[in-house]
Amino acid sequence: MADTSYMARKSVADIVGSADVEGGHALSKTLGATSITAMGIGAIIGAGIFVLTGTAAAQFAGPSIVLSFVLGGIACAFVGLCYSELAAMLPVCGSSYTYTYATLGEIFAWIIGWDLILEYAMGAATVAVGWSGYIVSLLHNVGINIPPVLATAPGTLIKLADGTTATGIVNLPAIVIIAILTTMLVLGTKESARLNNIMVAVKLVVVVAFIALGVFFIKPANWHPFIPANTGEFGNFGMSGILRGSAVVFFAFIGFDAVSTAAQEAKKPQRDMPIGILGSLVICTVLYILVAGVLTGLVPYAELNVPDPIAKGVDAIGLTWFSVLIKIGALTGLTTVILVLLYGQSRIFFTMSQDGLLPPLFARVHPRLQTPHLSQILIGTIVAIVAALTPISVLGEMVSIGTLFAFILVCGAVIYLRRSDSGASRPFRVPGVPIVPVLGILFCLLLMAGLPLVTWVRLVVWLVIGLTIYVTYGRNHSKLRFPERH
Ligand code: ALA
Repeated sequence: MADTSYMARKSVADIVGSADVEGGHALSKTLGATSITAMGIGAIIGAGIFVLTGTAAAQFAGPSIVLSFVLGGIACAFVGLCYSELAAMLPVCGSSYTYTYATLGEIFAWIIGWDLILEYAMGAATVAVGWSGYIVSLLHNVGINIPPVLATAPGTLIKLADGTTATGIVNLPAIVIIAILTTMLVLGTKESARLNNIMVAVKLVVVVAFIALGVFFIKPANWHPFIPANTGEFGNFGMSGILRGSAVVFFAFIGFDAVSTAAQEAKKPQRDMPIGILGSLVICTVLYILVAGVLTGLVPYAELNVPDPIAKGVDAIGLTWFSVLIKIGALTGLTTVILVLLYGQSRIFFTMSQDGLLPPLFARVHPRLQTPHLSQILIGTIVAIVAALTPISVLGEMVSIGTLFAFILVCGAVIYLRRSDSGASRPFRVPGVPIVPVLGILFCLLLMAGLPLVTWVRLVVWLVIGLTIYVTYGRNHSKLRFPERH
């Protein structure tokens, strides 16, 4: 008989049982800790460090954006430990969506799946807007000038070079990059591990070179005051500014969770997953803290509210060739992140559709290309529209709050599963349960508290829309509840 409870959950044994087979093919276990760490860095370093560091320093935290990164890194370390346990225990695609299905049941799985759209699809839009900023800047270097109003969201005020102002109309370059990458994904161009490693290397070289060269040109005066006085408004500098800064730059850490989807292909998941997840997090956190310190030392923080702040930092050094190199590196880095996010979104929809919570269209695979082409095109179209019309600050905050919310459920899932499935095999165990997951939850809540009310309202509206879809569609098509219909 159908289980009509909203709390219907998949059993851990069922999930693990289906884990070794994907699309009828067993996935080979070829990834070691180094490749997984490289994958993590590939997915993590993107618009967060290349764009949002500048905007957050200028608007919220000043040079103390460095401390915002420390706070964000601590929160992610706790969450990363929880992801490691679940990834090694439930090595399947779909990540936190699947974990939630196994713990809190279908309705929560739906909520998380819906919420993950904020992380993946909106994340891709955010990074595409970042890409737009850097390509406009690079093209300017080679004498091609894209009118700023055609590379900015409508309604956003732009300061033009001649001192006048204009209002943005549409972000065309963001549409272009999403269209190109969506086409590649539809055609099945998978980033090979080798190409990914090269791109990660380019990204790392550029970031490390920025730190290594920039450090010699720092003007310590730019670091004073390190924590600018609060303006009287929550989040505008001072302590609350550090908090808001971390909630915004938290975006920079997103991506380490994507690594968990590789658990099936890890040689020794119990060892490689925690090393991969935590290793990439530690490397990125250290780099972020150093970049933030150097950037705010090179340029007075108030001048960093630009689409390409790292390039502005390089301009302050005065090396034009290096500025061009940084932009190329940033564009490479941003491209890999968009690719991972667009790909991840289609795979999450694929799993949700197979579970009956989304229409079958999302699980339809092109017979020749072997890709979920319709889903990928739909996702690309919506992401392109959103990226064309929305400022990066609004997008970044939505992604941060949505992801923090998902992370809280993941930490909760660890605690829950330890009790509900205490006998299940756990190749990696989070130390100090429940303290570590509880700290993860508290840190995520703290960062969420740093975000403005309007972002919270947007999250609630988003979740209400999602629940309406679940009640009108998913509830009635769920495979778990109505297996006889599938
Ligand atoms: N962490 C990724 C970025 O910063 C999403 O672009």
